[in-house]
Amino acid sequence: MKDTIVQKKRIYILDDEVITVRRLVHALSKDGYELEGFVTAAEAIAHISKTPPDLLITDVRLGDANGVEVLQQVKGMAPQTIVILMTGYASIDQAVQAIKIGAFNYIAKPFRLDDLRQVIRDALQSVSHSNLTGDQTTNNPDRFGEIIGRSPAMQEIFKTIRQVAALNCNILIQGESGTGKELVARALHAHSDRANHPFIPFNCGAFSEELVANELFGHEKGAFTGAVSTKFGLLETANGGTVFLDEVGETPISMQIKMLRVIQERSLLRIGGVTPTMIDVRIIAATNQDIEKMVAAGSFRQDLFYRLKVVMIELPPLRYRQEDIPLLIEHFVTLIATQFGKPVPKIDSSFLNALLSYSFPGNIRELQNIIERAVALAREPMLTARDLPPDLFFTDTCPLPPEKPSSQLKIFEQEHIYEVYRRTGFNQTETAQQLGISRTTLWRRLKELNLVPDKK
Ligand SMILES: Nc1ncnc2c1ncn2[C@@H]1O[C@H](COP(=O)(O)OP(=O)(O)OP(=O)(O)O)[C@@H](O)[C@H]1O
Ligand SMILES: [Mg+2]
Repeated sequence: MKDTIVQKKRIYILDDEVITVRRLVHALSKDGYELEGFVTAAEAIAHISKTPPDLLITDVRLGDANGVEVLQQVKGMAPQTIVILMTGYASIDQAVQAIKIGAFNYIAKPFRLDDLRQVIRDALQSVSHSNLTGDQTTNNPDRFGEIIGRSPAMQEIFKTIRQVAALNCNILIQGESGTGKELVARALHAHSDRANHPFIPFNCGAFSEELVANELFGHEKGAFTGAVSTKFGLLETANGGTVFLDEVGETPISMQIKMLRVIQERSLLRIGGVTPTMIDVRIIAATNQDIEKMVAAGSFRQDLFYRLKVVMIELPPLRYRQEDIPLLIEHFVTLIATQFGKPVPKIDSSFLNALLSYSFPGNIRELQNIIERAVALAREPMLTARDLPPDLFFTDTCPLPPEKPSSQLKIFEQEHIYEVYRRTGFNQTETAQQLGISRTTLWRRLKELNLVPDKK
């Protein structure tokens, strides 16, 4: 049977570092996308004007242009193309500027391939979702925009979002990893009167203390060595819009007092500045930690906690809302098959039952990844339990990519091993053969990757 219905999603990579382009093209083409790489903006633009891709991933700093200029041109000639920027910490302000003029998101370098994969999926998904569902989203009680859920807990969340989206209050979203915090934050923004202004995500845990301050508040010219010109911080750039403070629990304690001041006074001082600048931003924060406990332990300021949680939204883990699992499976299977350009497979009860009895430590993100693997690897037009990772039946942890790989080479190696292992349907003998290593060596490598199920 030939898949003639839908084309594979086309992704272009633009970076002036050949190695980066090669690495990304190589890795992402294995995920079922059609890839092309470019090292100059001129070349990429010429190509985009002829054959626009679904997605462009571009570095901010390029030899012959910058990512923001590229974005501007792409928006003009290929408005459907989604743009994601890759940026070093020094150019986050430019990435933020890019979001203001229509980029989907940015990813801070260095990043793990899996994090980029996630951003890509989220981007493509948000588009295919709106294409698939059109206007019906508003009439379907089981969903709020892109958020799906029929469980009482999710219905309650939809109600809260409706009530508070248009208010200008700060909101704290709490929930385990992968429960949909960012999705909810984006929905709140989209249903507020700030929707035409930027939604700017910032990961409070991803940078050192000085960098967090510099990125959020900006600096005056001459504030420190290297501050050659005035730089607007993210809070100032987001004026009129929403700042999404992700992993707010990771905010260094000394930063918390500064954040509190901004929220209370609605103004900020750039580093090295003396005159405060008024700002108008709504703050939506998210955390997967129990901030109340952190307050009790003294690692999070109580006053800041109260300021952030004017409204608190708690996203329940997926294991407490099983009613949502079948809906989510159906949703992801359709979405992912369409993305891959495959016919949408049917779902066998063995597949559904196995997932219903799993506890999903990684929540919806994990479910999404499991379905993606299943759809990518399925040979039959029906998904059965055999299309699920075998670990699902052994332990509570699904195969996860490496935690903190020590070097670039190691990342390459681990990704390759993981890929082959996945492709062979998690068959160790076959993987070892294909890699040309002994089974013992393979076992050791898999153990590093946490891919060996615990013997119980
Ligand atoms: N209720 C839902 N319906 C449909 N898709 C969902 C739902 N919840 C989450 N998702 C999808 O699951 C993925 C993870 O969601 P999101 O990034 O919002 O979670 P998160 O809580 O921010 O996770 P993390 O803690 O890992 O940052 C996204 O692709 C999102 O679109
Ligand atoms: Mg998140």
